[in-house]
Amino acid sequence: MCGIVGYVGPRESQSILVSGLARLEYRGYDSAGIAVIDEGGTLGMRKRAGKLARLRESLDEAPLGAGTTGIGHTRWATHGGPTDDNAHPHLADDDRLAVIHNGIIENFSELKKELIAEGYSFRSETDTEVAAVLLGREYRTAGGDLEAAFRAVVSRLDGAFTLLAMHEDSPGVVVGARRNSPLVIGLGDGENFLGSDVAAFVEHTRSALAIGQDEIVTITPNSVVVSDFDGNPVEATPFDVSWDSAAADKGGWSSFMAKEVSEEPEAVAKTVLGRISGDDIVIPELEGMDELFSGIDRVIVLACGTAYYAGLVGKYAIEKWARIPVDVELAHEFRYRDPIVDAKTLVVSISQSGETMDTLMAVKEASRLGARTLSICNTQGSTIPRESDAVVYTHAGPEVAVASTKAFVAQITALYLLALHVGRIRGSLAPEVGAEAVEQLESLPEKIQWILDNEQERTEQLARWMADTRSVLFLGRHVGYPIALEGALKLKEISYIHAEGFAAGELKHGPIALIEPGQPVFVVVPSPRGSATMHAKVVSNIEEIRARGARVIAIAEQGDSAVLPHADEVLRIPLAAPLFEPLLAVVPLHIYAMGLATAKGLDVDQPRNLAKSVTVE
Ligand code: F6R
Repeated sequence: MCGIVGYVGPRESQSILVSGLARLEYRGYDSAGIAVIDEGGTLGMRKRAGKLARLRESLDEAPLGAGTTGIGHTRWATHGGPTDDNAHPHLADDDRLAVIHNGIIENFSELKKELIAEGYSFRSETDTEVAAVLLGREYRTAGGDLEAAFRAVVSRLDGAFTLLAMHEDSPGVVVGARRNSPLVIGLGDGENFLGSDVAAFVEHTRSALAIGQDEIVTITPNSVVVSDFDGNPVEATPFDVSWDSAAADKGGWSSFMAKEVSEEPEAVAKTVLGRISGDDIVIPELEGMDELFSGIDRVIVLACGTAYYAGLVGKYAIEKWARIPVDVELAHEFRYRDPIVDAKTLVVSISQSGETMDTLMAVKEASRLGARTLSICNTQGSTIPRESDAVVYTHAGPEVAVASTKAFVAQITALYLLALHVGRIRGSLAPEVGAEAVEQLESLPEKIQWILDNEQERTEQLARWMADTRSVLFLGRHVGYPIALEGALKLKEISYIHAEGFAAGELKHGPIALIEPGQPVFVVVPSPRGSATMHAKVVSNIEEIRARGARVIAIAEQGDSAVLPHADEVLRIPLAAPLFEPLLAVVPLHIYAMGLATAKGLDVDQPRNLAKSVTVE
């Protein structure tokens, strides 16, 4: 939530900032703004409510003065509505100082009162402006030492924040600080960058530094200095960005979501790549870390939203192959319920962004209680892996559309790799079972591609026919249940249609009352080869809702003819072992949600009210 970019170097900064913001816009699109110190040493600023396109139009009409130092921001509104005034940057010290911020400053009201009592005035309703005005005051107190003033300010702030600031008096300098909110450094040749994540600067450099909690960084074109809030020097952790910049571009696709759904086969393939040796799973990141798994008697999976549904799928695999009881919990619920956790608990967090505040706080709480922690994450240099004892990266590449798609299949894949790895270490995985799982994993990309090649068009057509639908239900059983939940979330998220997912077995315990003539219901049908009993039960569920007038769209494996007499439509998926079906069944649901939102003329990449990477609780 909120994207931040900073630049110092020889190049003209306005276009670098705007293109950085374009890559970060998924973090919030309520407003956008930039500030630049021009060649004459004057600070100029432009900001606009609405999407980045509005700022771009304004800059095209009247560019800011050419300058090589700048900061930029794209906002997801927290304090104060999405107006021009509330947009960032915020200025202070007679408009010679500019500040941008991501997070929430919890004690902003009391600081604001203090500053008003001293005669300072405010132009916005934001918590950020309080930090800007405070920095202006401290700057004077510190005799024009920006870094010292910045240090004084961060020590007064409660809450979560990434702050960047620059001052007219110091062209070529941008200072940044972070607490529980993301900030990474991009290292160029005679130029340096700051960003909420590496997408902000990946088109310019793939060499990066991760900075820790409660740290301050000062960048100039030729130097990067990191220290803690007390001023003690700190060594930042270098890493190479594995994403290439083209991966974060739309290419010829109509939307990022369309591109990312098309990349689902690749997301699975890349997540598996380099982690299979013969019939065995070898996860390089976990080499020499067997201790992490020894003596554990319980796994708790923590995540939010789509990542939580991936966790629900992962539970089946971990329990089956590693024979450890698994609880899957929404991270925000875990933290506040006095959880029972100890040194024998392995907490597995799942996060595409690695920055979701609810998940981060839950991981910290689990660590505090003595648990061992491992994260499954898609974003290098992000916070959750840093706060965990170990990390298994998904290699889905940058996910730009707000609705998560390719990251979901990559998360399930990584969970399966982990389950097999732990099962082997604990001796609970029979070699032939492991070998079969490896075979299944390796064949997944081709099978997902088959769905895209053969069922995408029909699914999109179905979505177009249903463009006026007001409610859609999703049913699934066993591993199909989390897929029903994911199908419903994706649909409501991007097409604003009421959608709910249910466990098929739960139908008669209440939800069947929702069925009336014409009600569309997607049913994820388990393979009859995997379990004839489960298959028969789901087919009975279909008959029950059909008898009450439901319009049934079944997602069933090729050759399953038992569903034909009962379903209005059947979308086919290739044959796979039961545990691997979710990775296939979800694909038509992603296509369907995208198709329906497109048919309604909606922006599938930037749905209303949402932002990717939810960095506030
Ligand atoms: C839904 C979606 C969200 C995220 C959730 C967690 O399409 O994208 O529900 O899955 O906000 O985000 P991460 O995985 O970044 O922690």
